[in-house]
Amino acid sequence: MRSRAFVFARPFIFARALVFASVVSALFSLHAAGQSITDVVAQRQHHMKAMAAAVKTMAGMFKSPETYSPAGFKDAAETIRRHSGPSLQADFSAVTAAKGSDASELIAAERQRFAQLSDELERYAMAAASAASDSPGPMPDNMRMREGETVSGGPLAKRPRNAANEAAMSAEHAFHTLLGTCTSCHARYRLKE
Ligand code: HEC
Repeated sequence: MRSRAFVFARPFIFARALVFASVVSALFSLHAAGQSITDVVAQRQHHMKAMAAAVKTMAGMFKSPETYSPAGFKDAAETIRRHSGPSLQADFSAVTAAKGSDASELIAAERQRFAQLSDELERYAMAAASAASDSPGPMPDNMRMREGETVSGGPLAKRPRNAANEAAMSAEHAFHTLLGTCTSCHARYRLKE
């Protein structure tokens, strides 16, 4: 007869085996892709730097509206979209904490929360791009934060009552929220130097 303790322990053993299997398969796919841990770290840091450059481009256009360019703004938002969501998660799927990396071990322990922040970043990058004006010339006022949009947003923030795009955020609001997502993720998952 099986002992009770064994019956209770079974799900835990199973869960551990799953975690072990996923680590092994992640390392295996790394190997299959011919990438070393150093490559993975360098590549994701490169992706992060590309997002930082995109943020700088967008911030520059909000600061100096006369420098606005629809293509420049949308390209920058697209750079962030491309490196966020599933792609950002993939950058950390096989390797979290490692030599030469500032990534925290917490990423491996909190996959769901890390994924939520990655997906949030993707949503705000798309919101910023879709709220961006297509007309050349200085940045139009309708890209600016609207009355009722607060930097933090939240359920109590007033929504603009505009039948056509009631849920749509202004580009500036989407941009500020996007920056907040970079900061939230770094605060929890990026080690301080
Ligand atoms: C879901 C989490 C997450 C989000 C969202 C995120 N980052 Fe990061 N970022 C990290 C982690 C983790 C590191 C450390 C990576 C490493 O050193 O391996 C990092 C590192 C960086 C670095 C340093 C790269 C280097 O050369 O060492 C920059 C710059 C950066 N992020 C910019 C950004 C910007 C800008 C955004 C938002 C547009 C952003 N990040 C969004 C997790 C995130």
